[in-house]
Amino acid sequence: MKEVILAIETSCDDTSAAIAINGIIKSNIIKSQGVHSNYGGVVPEISSREHQKNIILVVEEALKSAKVKKNDLNAISFTIGPGLLGSLLVGCSFAKSLSFALNLPLIGVDHMKAHVLSNFIDNPIPDFPFICLTVSGGHTQLVLVKDFLNMKIIGETLDDAVGEAFDKSAKILGIEYPGGPIIDKLSQKGNPLKFKFSKPKVSDLNFSFSGIKTSILYFVKSQMEKDPEFIEKNLNDISASIQYSLVEILIEKLIKAANKYKISNIAIAGGVSANSLLRIEIEKVKKIYNWTTFIPKIEYCTDNAAMIAIGAHYYIKEKRFDDINVCPNPRLNF
Ligand SMILES: Nc1ncnc2c1ncn2[C@@H]1O[C@H](COP(=O)(O)OP(=O)(O)OP(=O)(O)O)[C@@H](O)[C@H]1O
Ligand SMILES: [Mg+2]
Repeated sequence: MKEVILAIETSCDDTSAAIAINGIIKSNIIKSQGVHSNYGGVVPEISSREHQKNIILVVEEALKSAKVKKNDLNAISFTIGPGLLGSLLVGCSFAKSLSFALNLPLIGVDHMKAHVLSNFIDNPIPDFPFICLTVSGGHTQLVLVKDFLNMKIIGETLDDAVGEAFDKSAKILGIEYPGGPIIDKLSQKGNPLKFKFSKPKVSDLNFSFSGIKTSILYFVKSQMEKDPEFIEKNLNDISASIQYSLVEILIEKLIKAANKYKISNIAIAGGVSANSLLRIEIEKVKKIYNWTTFIPKIEYCTDNAAMIAIGAHYYIKEKRFDDINVCPNPRLNF
């Protein structure tokens, strides 16, 4: 029988719906909520209201673009957590209603496992075991992936996520939210070695990004006192130097993890895996260490329902379904 999955992702500020047929993505519609740039970060209450406004349109668009009718579906999946509770509730309630109305199985998918599984959307796909560096707005994790749903966190941030470090550094420079992609763009024309920021000293495979963020803040403040046009004159170089420092931290820990676990299949995932320098550096390092690397397409790096659909495909293989009483878990941790 054909397996036709509708997936819904509403964990943060992107409303997304996707259709997968037999594990192949047929559509992936993403409606981002630009409204948060006015506030310098995601406002949870506004995010849930925007999901409520967008969800029907996004789901209809996903069905239309995949040329699938509601009656062709045979499973409904959604992001169960982690994320913002009000946002998760919109996707979860919508999925529950649809599964009840159409009498279809319901599958709540872990958002962080789904980020890792974005590496299974397109070929080539990784062999097990592999290590995935998952870097996003809320998480920075080194994940040992033993099987599709058998994953273990072997390192993670003790404070801020690297995406947060990009966004908060951008805010210091007067760049609107989300600053990560803009820092990436400005860096193309900057000198990454012009300014140096102190690197965190964190043991083993864990990360810390709050210190570097503070050192960027004090550095910029002190320079602005000397020259009020410092940011304006040096924006490309400051951006490139911040990006270089953050990516260097990620690469160093990734090498350490690969050596410690003697694993040479290496993947990346999450919004920050869209970063051009990270993608370039991984390709450089792979030659030195003889890695086989897996890098998802940009549209599957930031939040998207395609990765939830792929997640659901593997949940179905393991017969992991939810019942109608299921509730989202904003702090879900695997
Ligand atoms: N090219 C880029 N360079 C650096 N950072 C980027 C780039 N593109 C996106 N980001 C960052 O990715 C983050 C968003 O990623 P994603 O959508 O996966 O996070 P999230 O869903 O908010 O968090 P989580 O997945 O941890 O719940 C933001 O911090 C954004 O600045
Ligand atoms: Mg995410």
